[in-house]
Amino acid sequence: MRYTANMLQASTSKPAILFVCLGNICRSPMAEGALKSAAAKIGLDVIVDSVGTANYHIGQAPDPRAIAVARANGVDIGGVIGRQLTEMDFLDFTHIFALDTANMAGIKARAPRHGTARIALLLDAVEGREGKSVPDPYYGDSQEFEQCWKTIDEACHALARTLARDGVNARF
Ligand code: 4NP
Repeated sequence: MRYTANMLQASTSKPAILFVCLGNICRSPMAEGALKSAAAKIGLDVIVDSVGTANYHIGQAPDPRAIAVARANGVDIGGVIGRQLTEMDFLDFTHIFALDTANMAGIKARAPRHGTARIALLLDAVEGREGKSVPDPYYGDSQEFEQCWKTIDEACHALARTLARDGVNARF
């Protein structure tokens, strides 16, 4: 489901995580599904959503290859609907995670002065992989989607553990 500003503001005590890639059809929907699944496994209450910095795929379902690799790993991301990063996202979410450094730059360029979300890379949540990007699998084959899922899923398990420990105050 998509969250409105009011729903998010009514729940300031729990982390609200937004994943951001370019198209919101491959990496960030996979991260959305992986974190929801990792959180459910450890009983973590967290809001999770995903967007793109670009407007290419607004209103679209994830790439069939992303849906397939998630499904093969027991996660359904077929209901994600592509949307683009908005100014409100910087207020509605406690943390915004870019999937790569290029999109991190895009996020920072759009951040309003009054934005409150902490901005980091997804792999900043993984010890030893700080500062690294999750490569774009869009022009790759199914093997690249599998590797992409593995990287994102491991990172989301690490992220879920940190959020369970530190909640909205988690720093990356
Ligand atoms: P994503 O992958 O950013 O992981 O969703 C891409 C999706 C679409 C395009 C590029 C990357 N594109 O150029 O349309």
